[in-house]
Amino acid sequence: MKIIAVYHNKGGVGKTTVSVNLAAGLRRKGNNVLLIDLDSQANSTFATGLVKFQFEEEDTLRDNNIFHVLKSSDYDFIKDVARRSHLFNTPEIDVIPAHITLTEREIELGKIQTSRLRLLRKLELEPSRYDFVIIDTPPARDLYAEISMITSDYLIIPSDLKPFANQGLTTVGNFIKDMNNYRKEILNKVPIKVLGVLPSRITTNQKSFLSTFSKSRQTVIDHYSFPVMETIIYDRIALSRCLNQTLPVGDLEIPAPKSIFEYADQTSLAEPSAGEFEHLCAEILNKME
Ligand SMILES: Nc1ncnc2c1ncn2[C@@H]1O[C@H](COP(=O)(O)OP(=O)(O)OP(=O)(O)O)[C@@H](O)[C@H]1O
Ligand SMILES: [Mg+2]
Repeated sequence: MKIIAVYHNKGGVGKTTVSVNLAAGLRRKGNNVLLIDLDSQANSTFATGLVKFQFEEEDTLRDNNIFHVLKSSDYDFIKDVARRSHLFNTPEIDVIPAHITLTEREIELGKIQTSRLRLLRKLELEPSRYDFVIIDTPPARDLYAEISMITSDYLIIPSDLKPFANQGLTTVGNFIKDMNNYRKEILNKVPIKVLGVLPSRITTNQKSFLSTFSKSRQTVIDHYSFPVMETIIYDRIALSRCLNQTLPVGDLEIPAPKSIFEYADQTSLAEPSAGEFEHLCAEILNKME
């Protein structure tokens, strides 16, 4: 079982887009995949088709999400909490959902000594159930981000390579250092392996690309000392559209998000992005050998 966190403290760089489509791509290659949403925005939960309800009283996620896995040793994270994604990918993936209430419950969780270790311990109980566990994280340095860094073996840092995202890499670097100390002191665990900064939401405008990409990429390597992945996830309309698909049910339009692979089966518009995610899966598998 390989556990991969997808993290950057900068918001909107494509963490969720990368997490869900990477999970879908690895699943299509025949792996058993679990996606864990550790962000209170619950965007991965939404993107994998688990939010079908329109009204609060129909919300079945509130009392059964990642918080419960972290809070109590009673919850079996697969049997009690994981759900199958819905109309998202073929084959579907398993998902541990997040919930908006994670924010207000963070302090409560922080008071429990073992909450930082609980996800790791529960995953370790069934080491062969999943080939890959992908963790989507919040754009923050909070308890949930810490849990992602403590639990994972590998780290992918999506970045649009723009100035703020690049400057944020200093914070990411310091965070990794602190979490590696924790791993060593508390768990006697090796440092998290940084697979690299993943260029994400990169412009397809050739002129603009040529004038900025290589320089921004080199800055990440020289100034922030992070490796940069070979794959480039370009900014393409299909990649945001696939997660915003809906289905008409009576008078309502219900969310029916699709992985980029599923969407590419419907429209050739999605093929370039699906190809980029194929490339990402191959690069990751290659780096893990
Ligand atoms: N490569 C891409 N091409 C086109 N749109 C993209 C791409 N990546 C992300 N987006 C869009 O950009 C927005 C932010 O992406 P996403 O939610 O994946 O970022 P995030 O880092 O997870 O954000 P947050 O920090 O809020 O969790 C979304 O609307 C998404 O559809
Ligand atoms: Mg996100």
